[in-house]
Amino acid sequence: MSKKDLDWGNIGFQYRVTDKRYVSDYKDGAWDEGRLIEDSMITVSESANIMQYCQEVFEGMKAYTTVDGKIVTFRPDLNAKRMADSAKRMVMAPFPEDRFIEAVDMTVAANEDWVPPYGTGATLYIRPFMIGSAPVIGVQPSPEFHFRIFTTPVGPYFKGGATPVAITTCDYDRAAPHGTGNIKAGLNYAMSLLQTVEAHKNGYVENMYLDAATRTLVEETGGSNIFFVTKDGKVVIPKSDSILPSITRRSLVYVAENMLDIEVEERPVEFSEVPTFVECGLCGTAAVISPVGRIHKHDDDTDILLPSGMDAPGPVTAKLYETLTGIQYGTVEAPEGWIHEIK
Ligand code: PLP
Ligand code: COI
Repeated sequence: MSKKDLDWGNIGFQYRVTDKRYVSDYKDGAWDEGRLIEDSMITVSESANIMQYCQEVFEGMKAYTTVDGKIVTFRPDLNAKRMADSAKRMVMAPFPEDRFIEAVDMTVAANEDWVPPYGTGATLYIRPFMIGSAPVIGVQPSPEFHFRIFTTPVGPYFKGGATPVAITTCDYDRAAPHGTGNIKAGLNYAMSLLQTVEAHKNGYVENMYLDAATRTLVEETGGSNIFFVTKDGKVVIPKSDSILPSITRRSLVYVAENMLDIEVEERPVEFSEVPTFVECGLCGTAAVISPVGRIHKHDDDTDILLPSGMDAPGPVTAKLYETLTGIQYGTVEAPEGWIHEIK
């Protein structure tokens, strides 16, 4: 084993081609046995469902090097299950959940040299995904699927890591009631590009979406769930059927209630309540826990300034961040079954 020669502390969040990827194909009603390959390119028909009707689902996970030099993943069973749920909604054959975990392990182990060392702030991002690979021209599901897992080393998703970010509301909706907001499908991200480019141009890292039906309730951002902290130190988390069931968010709820003795309320959150909160944070695999210092209201061009400010995370966000990342890097004892050791 010899680690790649990268400046691990400054690799950014970008795609790098690594050595091996796992592939398996579904045909005639069954998944083949799967294998590791070196080719990072995919060849499909010009009329493959993915090319015409975007039949695609994906996951986002990370492999961490722990303080004692092990390579681990965080709750991969939940990614396996969520990907199967996403696939069912998109009329795709779910990839068997036990095989999903084995395939992730194989892919990470085969790219061990790309797993960033402990203490660099970088991790190996893992991207399992599945596409409708057979040609269709009428709108119908593909009868064949290509499942693949690739990995790429990444630094923090937002520049500056755990320093506070600014986000903005926008004129577009993310997910309709009874739509696809609760699954991880590429289509939810394709339609976010326009407003994401706009947000970045104006200095905001993400859009904060409100519910599409009434535009009065906080949902989530384009790539993370959101949480707030009340004056009396309670964590408040928006509950909605059209947001992604974030594994990070579900873990934070457990960490807050069972490890930090912090009360959590999961309920619909009115946007009009936001000025009463003292902290706000984004949470997700890529985002980890990113404190929010400012929320721009695009309709009247004013700002909500969180009392925690733009210099450092507030105390509750900081505690959640330290505990969650401590669990992932092996410095805090993990709840049973959360850490999956690869090597
Ligand atoms: N919400 C959206 C829209 C996302 O893309 C992500 C990223 O995966 C999340 C939330 C966070 O989910 P998780 O914590 O499972 O990574
Ligand atoms: C993740 O957090 O893994 C995601 O898929 C979010 C994406 C915006 C990178």
